[in-house]
Amino acid sequence: MYYYIRLLKNTPIEAVIQEPFKLVFTITTDLTEKFYDQPCKLRCQTVVRTPSTIPGATAEDTVMTIMPQGLTQGYSLDYDPKIGYCSVDVRLAPCMTPYDECQLVLSLDPTPYTTNQPGSKTLLEPPEYEILPAWSLPIHLKPAPLNFSKKTKHRKVNKKYLIDTRQDLVERYFKLPAHLTGLHGPGRSLLVREDATEGFMARHIWDSGVFMTKHLMLSDSWLSKYMKETREQDKDEKVDVNQEKSLESSLSTLSVLDTSVPAPGSSSPSDPSPTPIPSQCRERVCLELGAGTGLVGIAVAVAFPELSVLSTDLDEALALMQQNVDANAALLPNNNMKVGFLDWAEKDRKVKPVEILLLADVVYNDLSHEFLLQTILDYSDEKTKVLLGYKFRHEAEQQFFERAKDYFNIENVHQQDTMQLFVMTRKAN
Ligand SMILES: C[S@@+](CC[C@H](N)C(=O)[O-])C[C@H]1O[C@@H](n2cnc3c(N)ncnc32)[C@H](O)[C@@H]1O
Repeated sequence: MYYYIRLLKNTPIEAVIQEPFKLVFTITTDLTEKFYDQPCKLRCQTVVRTPSTIPGATAEDTVMTIMPQGLTQGYSLDYDPKIGYCSVDVRLAPCMTPYDECQLVLSLDPTPYTTNQPGSKTLLEPPEYEILPAWSLPIHLKPAPLNFSKKTKHRKVNKKYLIDTRQDLVERYFKLPAHLTGLHGPGRSLLVREDATEGFMARHIWDSGVFMTKHLMLSDSWLSKYMKETREQDKDEKVDVNQEKSLESSLSTLSVLDTSVPAPGSSSPSDPSPTPIPSQCRERVCLELGAGTGLVGIAVAVAFPELSVLSTDLDEALALMQQNVDANAALLPNNNMKVGFLDWAEKDRKVKPVEILLLADVVYNDLSHEFLLQTILDYSDEKTKVLLGYKFRHEAEQQFFERAKDYFNIENVHQQDTMQLFVMTRKAN
């Protein structure tokens, strides 16, 4: 499992240099059912995105300058589990004036935590579980007014200069493993935005998704091995995987409603007739169900450019998911990822099976098990690999696996504490 630094109050869209604004945050599990119960030190840094000259640079490539934070050269904050949250007045430093935007990054301070008790210095164990940093959305910086009156001498917040429109998202970064350097260049990360505070379930990242993302991109993951094997088989069978095949043509055989503007000649929601895929060309379609922010689908599309990935969810997820795909465009030069609407409760689908189905953290609601299982059945055949990331939440979830066992062989291919990755393959009829 993971812990997440979460804002309890959104950061402002605009801040006046040296005028304080409040940052309130905590450390919780994905479901917010548990708060981090150890004291620790957190770092609050300000980073500035400088315009990048690297062609195809990702958002993170442009974070060139880490500026000392405020008047105290960066904040080190004590997280006290007895209080359960941190509150700090952030002042942005005058040295930022050449830039007009910055982001705040909250992360675990790796320097060992030391208590302030007189005479005793206690080193606490590093956290057992990873604590994921949170990046605020960019904050527009405004210079302080020059003619301070006596009233403003003490730098009270001048509300006039703080637009109280709050930003409700934070960013999370996931470093690409070294073996993808050849594909994407060194030191790249993929980025997803999620709701800063508690909000729609579909607009958050969840443990199983983070776990799948980190694992699937590795060179020795189950999926990497599978992709390698199937590439070799393709070579042996002389299947033309390099043949130009548009994502639109592959995905048009699915019954999902694509939110993006259809390419000329491709099918669109108003044109339901699917474009046939050339028979000599292997369909390498990966469909993600209940994709939320799109994190897992993006990771798979970035790591395996030969797959055409379609990540789907209900309406409330799609705008943010598309934003996340766009934010990673530089890592997706093949344009091999799309976002679409797909409701598991839809009835009587006439669709084709896909090669890979991705699911992360989708069996928590036993009321939807029947629909979900039907959707998986609709999009699978004996060749389909169903990758399901799971974290135990409650007993009722086991009913899903009990039902699924009637149709699928289920293999646990990777595990990390309470999180598991299952590969489900259809039993022969
Ligand atoms: C716990 S979230 C997991 C999100 C993402 N897979 C992750 O791991 O970060 C469950 C997701 O399932 C989606 N979902 C729930 N019921 C659905 C339905 N009937 N059809 C499609 N998606 C659904 C939710 O909108 C939500 O995005």
